[in-house]
Order: sequence, then C-alpha cells, then structure tokens
Amino acid sequence: MPGITFTARSIPDAAAAPAECAILPIFSDAALAPVARALDKAGGGAIESALALGDFSGKRGETLWLPGSGRSKRVLLLGCGEAAGFDRKAMRNICSKLAHALQDTKAKDALFYASACKLKAADGEWFLSYLARQLTTVGYRYTTTLSKPKTAMALRKFTVETGGKPSNSAAKAALKRGTITGSGVNEARFLADLPGNICTPAYLASHARKLARSLDKLSVQVLEEKKMRELGMGALLSVSAGSRQPAKLIVMQYKGAKATQKPCVLVGKGITFDTGGISLKPGAKMDEMKYDMGGAASVFGTLKAVAELQLPMNVIGIVPAAENMPDGLATKPGDVVTSMAGKTIEILNTDAEGRLVLCDALTYAARFKPEVVIDIATLTGACIVALGSHASGLFANDDDLADALLSAGTESHDRAWRLPLWKEYQKQLNSPFADMANIGGAGAGSVTAACFLAHFTEEYTWAHLDVAGSAWNSSPKGATGRPVPLLMQYLLSRLESRK
Ligand code: BES
Ligand code: MN
Ligand code: ZN
Repeated sequence: MPGITFTARSIPDAAAAPAECAILPIFSDAALAPVARALDKAGGGAIESALALGDFSGKRGETLWLPGSGRSKRVLLLGCGEAAGFDRKAMRNICSKLAHALQDTKAKDALFYASACKLKAADGEWFLSYLARQLTTVGYRYTTTLSKPKTAMALRKFTVETGGKPSNSAAKAALKRGTITGSGVNEARFLADLPGNICTPAYLASHARKLARSLDKLSVQVLEEKKMRELGMGALLSVSAGSRQPAKLIVMQYKGAKATQKPCVLVGKGITFDTGGISLKPGAKMDEMKYDMGGAASVFGTLKAVAELQLPMNVIGIVPAAENMPDGLATKPGDVVTSMAGKTIEILNTDAEGRLVLCDALTYAARFKPEVVIDIATLTGACIVALGSHASGLFANDDDLADALLSAGTESHDRAWRLPLWKEYQKQLNSPFADMANIGGAGAGSVTAACFLAHFTEEYTWAHLDVAGSAWNSSPKGATGRPVPLLMQYLLSRLESRK
C-alpha cells in the first residue's frame, strides 16, 4: 500500500500556499483563527457566509467541503466544538472525522492548519501522532484475494502547519511515530485478514524472513518441528500433531541497543486456524478462527514499527505458529504431554490449544534473559464475555508492568483492563493424571487460562494480553491491528522513562 507522507512546515501566508485541500479547524464558540480569516478573505468570504447561513456551526466532528480559495483548490472546514472542551476525547473524535472525510476526497495532498486548534504543548505532539496514525490506518484495504481491488485512498501527502506549537521538528517526529505505528497496525491487519489456506505457519515464517531482509537490525530464526522435539516442546507439538501443516517457532530479533541491554520479549499466539481439533468447534462463525493468529500478527506489526523507527532498544518477537486440526494423528482429550519446562499437562480439551503453544514459547523466552515478557493471544472466548471488544484483558505477575501497560493503553486509546491471577484460581487446573490440566472448568475461563501460563513464567516479569475481543471485528469482518498501538506506546514510554 502506498501510504501518506507526513511533514510539518511554517506557512507565512495561508492564501499564497498551494494545496489541493486546505483543512481549517474551527471552534463553535471562538472567533476565526488568523489563518482561517486569511483564506476566507482570499475566497470571497465563503467561510463567514457558511457560518452565517448555519450550514456549518463548528460543532465537534462536523465537516463541510467548500470550493477553493487563495491557492487552495478545496477547503475542508472541521468542527472542533467548544474551545474549552477541546480535550483528548474531542481530539480523537475530530481525528477520526477528518480521516473519514479525507478517505473519499480526490485531493492528493492536504494542508492542515493545526495552529487554529490552539494546541497546548503536551497535547500537540500527542494529537499529531494520533492523527497520523488514524490517517494511515483509514487507508488500509484488504486486497490479496480480490480480483478487483477496492479503490485506494487518493491522498499521498499531508502537511501540518502548527504556528510553532509544537515546533516543526517536534511535529515531524510526532507525525513519524504516528505514521509508523499506523503502518504497524496495517501490517497486523494484513496478516490477520489473510485466509487460513494462505496464512499458514510456513507463510508466517517466510513473511518474517522477508521483513528481516527489508529492515535494518532485524534478524530471523525459524525452528522446525525436529528442533522443537529436541528441545522437548511436547505441548506445542501436540497442537500441530493433527495438521498437515508443520508448526514453526519464529524468532525475530531486533537489536537496536548494546547486547548487554536486556530485551523486551513479545510472544504472539500464532494459531493460523483453530478448528478446535478433536474437541471440534461448532460450525457457526468458525471462519473467524483464521484470526487466531491475531496475537502473532500484532508481534509482527510491532517489530516492523520498532525497526522502522530504529528505536535504541532490544526487542524480540517469538511466534509459536501452528494449525489446530483434527486428523488421525491429532491429540485426543485425556492425552498427557510433557512441556519443555518438564511439567506434564493433561489435555482435557484440544480447543484450549493457545496456552499449549504459548507455554513452550514462554519457556523458550527465558533464554534471552528478558527484562520483561509480554504475550499477546486470542486466548479465550470468556474474555469477550467479560470485556467485549473495548478492552483487551490484562494479566501480570508484576504491578509496575501492569500499570505501565494500562497507561500505554489509555495514552494510545488502545485500552486494556486488568483481571486477577490469584492463586485461589489455580486449583481449577488440578488433574489426577498430570501436573495440571489445560482447562479450568466452569467459571473465570480467561483467568484460569492466564493461571495456566503463569506456571511457565515464574522466572521473569511477565504480562499476558488476551485480545480475543479486540483483535478483530465481526461485522463488518476485519482485523483491527490491536494491540499494536498499546505495545508501541509501552515501548516508547519505556525509552522516555530511561532518559
Ligand atoms: N481461539 C480460541 C478463543 C476464541 C474463541 C477467541 C472465540 C475469539 C473468539 C481458543 O483457542 C479457544 O478455543 N478457547 C476455548 C477454551 C475452552 C476450551 C476452555 C474457549 O474460549 O472456548
Ligand atoms: Mn481453541
Ligand atoms: Zn485458539
């Protein structure tokens, strides 16, 4: 996808600045900003008359296209509501309205007069970064298996005028963070939207290699089933046993800092299709189980964004990729397997496969001596029952890490909500035939799934994000790219706090 190029520059005379589209933010209760007055004068007063006629009032989220004025071929008025109430919620609202208004325009470039928003220093960079992210993600189109691809967005260049607040260099940096985060979101959506017959474990492995070829400081290693067997990954291998597609353990390493600096490890559930296995799922909506690699997709998207920003830190992505199918060699309910950690697991339900691939990947993660490990997984339907799609479920064995992830979610508006990992829940996993069962029975399904993972993460600081409700939408169907914005914000904030 071509994408939009963002920049910031000073515009001494709005009427003299050439643009296919000038965007003017307007408050409902404040006088027109100087840039708006200048453009209005050049355009014969069309803005004042739209206001006088009541065609446009400046209500938050309102948009109105006007014919050109000065050297702008078109003018887009963008209502910002009351000046005093122009908080982040209002900013998010106008960012999404603006992105949708620009989605269908024929204009190839746009000039945004952000100075008319009277941004405060702290909010200005946040706003520009959020706007660039929204504009980038609104341009996403699924095309891979369509013989007539949908029309792409025409907009190619977006220039911001800030009036010095924030400075052009700070504005450019914020726009860059937002654009690259948006591309990371689009990367995750691209992979997750692919059908299961294309996006297999082998496809993900070759996609990882492709990323590593195109991105500086990123390298990839893929472990095959033979190697996994040598490592004793009996839990992971029990999931791919019923599939013709061999499992792959994909390890992507981004080395942006000294080797002595401990890495942040992201582990993404990569079930490229989840039929449930012998504990077969019902047919309705089973197609959506192609999204069961949404966690893995977010790890790909985040690593791509980290490498594009060349962040000065070490980040490792681990993706246990497998297909959960019910053929003759498939794992059966009651089978007992031994994980890489040596713990035995009674598989009471082959549909609880995510935790089986994750537990061996989490054990493998320890060899990187991580500072933190975060796993991301479309793990439980129960998480959708608890939180719906607005929040991802968050579990952690460390309060500081949990708080940092919750703040990153709020800051990026890709929110999470913490659920407990109390030891009282552990007994639901007791088994007479193994160290633990892979399901916890009735009640608290998301918690018992996280409790299962907690057995394999005792050695390090760990968090688990259950994105079953947030990784994709069911109508219209499409991947969201979450939680890439949360993860990027978490990594950026970590860098910031290290300064
Ligand atoms: N991938 C599913 C979880 C899921 C289901 C995510 C629906 C999004 C929508 C997972 O592998 C699964 O099947 N979990 C089971 C666990 C149960 C057998 C304990 C579930 O949630 O039903
Ligand atoms: Mn399942
Ligand atoms: Zn699954």
